[in-house]
Amino acid sequence: MSSSERSSEPATPAPAPPRNDRLLRALRRQPVDRTPVWIMRQAGRYLPEYRELRSRVPSILELLGEPELAARITLQPVRRFELDAAILFSDILVVPEVMDLGLYFEEGEGPRFRHPVRTPAQVEALPVPGPEAYPKVAQTVRRVLEELDGSLPLIGFAGSPWTLAAYVLEGRGGGEFGTARALAYQEPDLVHGLLRKLSRGVVAFLQAQLHAGVHALQIFDTWGGLLSHRGWEEFSLAYMRQVVDQIRQSHPRVPVTLYGRNTAGRLEQLAATGCDCLSLDWSVDMGRARRQTGGEVALQGNLDPVALHAPPEELRRQVAATLASYGRGPGHIFNLGHGVAPDVDPEQVQRMIRAVQELSPPYHAVKS
Ligand code: CP3
Repeated sequence: MSSSERSSEPATPAPAPPRNDRLLRALRRQPVDRTPVWIMRQAGRYLPEYRELRSRVPSILELLGEPELAARITLQPVRRFELDAAILFSDILVVPEVMDLGLYFEEGEGPRFRHPVRTPAQVEALPVPGPEAYPKVAQTVRRVLEELDGSLPLIGFAGSPWTLAAYVLEGRGGGEFGTARALAYQEPDLVHGLLRKLSRGVVAFLQAQLHAGVHALQIFDTWGGLLSHRGWEEFSLAYMRQVVDQIRQSHPRVPVTLYGRNTAGRLEQLAATGCDCLSLDWSVDMGRARRQTGGEVALQGNLDPVALHAPPEELRRQVAATLASYGRGPGHIFNLGHGVAPDVDPEQVQRMIRAVQELSPPYHAVKS
C-alpha cells in the first residue's frame, strides 16, 4: 500500500449509527426486536421505477457515472418497502473498469471485457488505482447518506478478487468460466499475479466507500463455488482473507459480510477469515450452518429467490420456515439466497418483508 493511501485512511471518523440499527446490531449478534431484512439486488429491474430511469440511459455504466441518478436508484427500494438497510447502487465490475480493461455490457448477454487478461505482461501492465479513483462512487454514497438523513444504514460492497478474476480472465460473464478455471491450472503464477492486483483494487474500492461513510460491507464471492475445494482455498479464500485483514486494520469496527454460492462445505473456513457474517445461498440449512459456525458469525439469508414466484400463502410458509431454521436469538439477517430476479412482482417482495416483520418477533422475545 502506498503512503498516500495510508495517510488518507483515518480522515473520516466512523459514521454515526443510524436510527434503525437492527442490521448493525444483528451483524454484531446483539439483541433486536425482530429480524432485520434487506434484499440482494433490491434496486433493480423488477422495480418499474428502476426500469423507467434505466430506459433513459444506454447502459448501467452511464448510470454509475451519474451520482445523482445512482443515489436515486439506491433509494428507490427503501422508499417503496420497509427495509432495514439500503445497499449502494454500483457494481462489482467497477474495479476492473477503472483498471482499463474495457468493460461493456452487451444487451441481454451481460458483462464483457474488450481486453481479457491472458499474459503475464498484461498483468504486469495493469494499473491499480487507489481510493481516489472512485470519485463518483464516493459522491453517490455521500448523496445517499444525506437523503437517508440518519434513518437507515447503507451497505457498501465489492466482488471477491476471484469473482472479479473470473470475469477478467474469461473476458465475459454468462457461462461457467471454463477459460478462467483452466488458466488457474495452466498459468497459476499469472492468476496469482492478477489476484494480488485485484485484491489491492478491491480494498481501494471499499476504502473509497468507507471514507464516504458506508456503515457495513459485503463481499460477493459469487463464482468461488465453481472451484474445486483446493482451488477455492488457494485462489479465492486466501485473497478474501487478505481483503478482510486490510479492512480490519483501517476500520476495525465496520461489519463485513461474505457472500458465497455453493459454499455449504466451506462455512467454517469462511467464518475463520475474521468476517462478521456469512450470507448463505438457498442450498444451506440455516440451523445446521448456525451449529457449524458455533455462533462465531451472524448468518444472512437464505430464502430461495424462486420462492418469490410461489402463491402468497406458500411464500409466507417459506419465510416462516427460514426463520424457524435459524431459530431463537440474535444474529440472523433475513435475505434471499441470491439476488432478486427481474421478473419478480414487487407485491411479492412486499409480502415477503411483511412476513418477516410479522413472524420474526417471537424469535427475539426475552424468555421469562
Ligand atoms: O444489490 C443491489 O441492489 C446493489 C447493486 C448491485 C448490482 N450489481 C447492480 C446491477 C450489486 C450488489 C451487484 C453485484 C454484482 N454484479 C455481482 C455479485 C452479486 C451477484 O449477483 O452474484 C455480480 C456477479 C455482478 C456482475 C454483473 N453486473 C452482471 C453479471 C450484470 C448483468 C446482469 C444482468 O442481469 O444483466 C451486471 C449489471 C447490473 N448490476 C445490473 C444491476 C441492477 C443490471 C443492469 C441493467 O441492465 O439495468
